[in-house]
Amino acid sequence: MLGRGVCEAMIELFKGVFEQKGKLLTKNLVPGKKAYGEDTYKIDGAEYRSWNPYRSKLGAAIRNGLKTMPIKPGSKVLYLGAATGTTTSHISDIVGERGEVYAVEISAHSMKSLIQLCEVRQNVIPILADAGRPRDYEEIGDVDIIFEDVAHPEQAEMMNRNARFLQKGGYGMIAIKSQSIDVTKNPKEIYARVEKELEGTFEIIERVDLEPYEMDHLFLLLRKK
Ligand SMILES: C[S@@+](CC[C@H](N)C(=O)[O-])C[C@H]1O[C@@H](n2cnc3c(N)ncnc32)[C@H](O)[C@@H]1O
Repeated sequence: MLGRGVCEAMIELFKGVFEQKGKLLTKNLVPGKKAYGEDTYKIDGAEYRSWNPYRSKLGAAIRNGLKTMPIKPGSKVLYLGAATGTTTSHISDIVGERGEVYAVEISAHSMKSLIQLCEVRQNVIPILADAGRPRDYEEIGDVDIIFEDVAHPEQAEMMNRNARFLQKGGYGMIAIKSQSIDVTKNPKEIYARVEKELEGTFEIIERVDLEPYEMDHLFLLLRKK
């Protein structure tokens, strides 16, 4: 509800990520504009957008206790599997005017909505491409963080290929959907396999289970070796 006042003290969980009255919030980079029908709140003269952890795996990971948040004001982020831009919009709020979000999406249908989001949010650059073919968008240059949320059987391989955009010590964030890799296997078996594939390129820093927001999803925070 635009303009609703909230009096309880606000906590900054990470730079640009807030909590008030049990709600996760980001400060709206474009006041007056919503991205996906989310509630907005006026707090101390600024507008904040509610971040729904049931619709965003990064929101769910923060809710479930992610300890390190590498995405900060000014960060340059490569986002793989942006869909219509729900999570991308919150990352856009966090990185702010000095940051950039390169949003890769393979579906032309989702891209239409993503382009509308980018028209409003100048720090999001849409890229219609296959995240498994990073050469197709290599002109983006180095980034600080790669965020991956693709429902695809080769999720680990995709992250490894895109690691070319990270310097040593750069961060990867990946939401692993076990059902997209193999529906017949126990999710734990799948996670172990994915971690093994990633360990050649990355050190695994944190593991966060996304239940109850998402079933059979594991979120990993990675650092490039
Ligand atoms: C679970 S949805 C992403 C939701 C989104 N990250 C969010 O939180 O708002 C997965 C997306 O990955 C996209 N995708 C699947 N394979 C892809 C590929 N090879 N390259 C780029 N995007 C891909 C799908 O089209 C879909 O939009």
